[in-house]
Amino acid sequence: MMIHAKARPLISKLSIPSPIKKYFMHQDWEIDLSNNTNPYVGSLANYPDICQNHLKDIYISTILSLKPSPKTKPKITRDNVLFTVGSMEGLDLMIRTFAEPNTDVICLTSPTFSAYEHWALIHNLTVKHVPLLGENLNHLFIKAIVDINPKMIFLCDPNNPVGSKLDVSIIPQLCESIEGFVVVDEAYIEFSDHPSSLYYLKRYKNLIILRTFSKAWGMAGVRCGAILADKLVINALRYVQLPFGLSTQAQETVKESLLNPDKIFDSWARIKMNRDTLVSELSKLKAVKKIYKSETNFIMPIFNDFVAVLERLKAHKINVLNCSGTIENSLRVSIGNEQQNRKFLEAIKEASGE
Ligand SMILES: Cc1ncc(COP(=O)(O)O)c(C=O)c1O
Repeated sequence: MMIHAKARPLISKLSIPSPIKKYFMHQDWEIDLSNNTNPYVGSLANYPDICQNHLKDIYISTILSLKPSPKTKPKITRDNVLFTVGSMEGLDLMIRTFAEPNTDVICLTSPTFSAYEHWALIHNLTVKHVPLLGENLNHLFIKAIVDINPKMIFLCDPNNPVGSKLDVSIIPQLCESIEGFVVVDEAYIEFSDHPSSLYYLKRYKNLIILRTFSKAWGMAGVRCGAILADKLVINALRYVQLPFGLSTQAQETVKESLLNPDKIFDSWARIKMNRDTLVSELSKLKAVKKIYKSETNFIMPIFNDFVAVLERLKAHKINVLNCSGTIENSLRVSIGNEQQNRKFLEAIKEASGE
């Protein structure tokens, strides 16, 4: 199995993990006596499917059918997909496969999802931050990243915790400007009005997309994510990924949801509508100074009287994420159902003295 030349030198010296080798031989066994499993129990006595071909096929056709999308669709094949135990495993795998501890530099844009820095530091990497710029924190000074020359840059797009989506020109420009990997975490892409970076995948071999079923797909408890990338990147990741992480039940649950997505699709439209209504109502209140443009299922308002806001939320037993360590007087607020949003709005109205 050919793997990407930028995989850590140690990895290219290893032989392919045996469960993966076995399952990729595509042998149609009638009797399999190779796994030391119990022959008297049902189908869960077998290890989970490691090829996941049917799951990959329906996943690829579903994500390519989602709007907004360009007219010409790229040819994404099974070789470009690796399912992971949530996208958290995806980002950890990228780091462990390609970044050399004590040597490589990872670039992050700030503010961003805190897990990238956490796992990079655990892996003994140097982390360098480049600030997001502009009114909606969706611009970048690309030259600053080129100068850092990172082994990889993690972009959270749309961004957690701000909610905004990067300016459309940034990802292709970055892919062309740096030799390292451009890892785009699209955990919230289903809520965006702009197309995914997926459509650049065939053009830029250094582009990696992370996806998750935890957010819009409503399956955080199932633990499933996906990496979409060039085949040689995916092959290298297979050497590092713990085999059989995605259980048989998880695969079945995801398959079922992909085959019957209408209820989920309806919920996305509802969440987006509720988000826009909440933003419009909050914007009228004295306590609210600013709300970043969100293309996610959460919003980040900045408040005038932060102490009063925190006090009113506590009084109503409403839990949100206090992000004032990152952006002064800011909260990250998930879009809940109609009743939850109404209660949140009432609390902010009280903090505004209305
Ligand atoms: C931007 C981003 N990426 C990844 C994750 C992790 O998702 P998963 O549940 O798929 O591991 C989260 C969860 O909060 C997130 O916000």
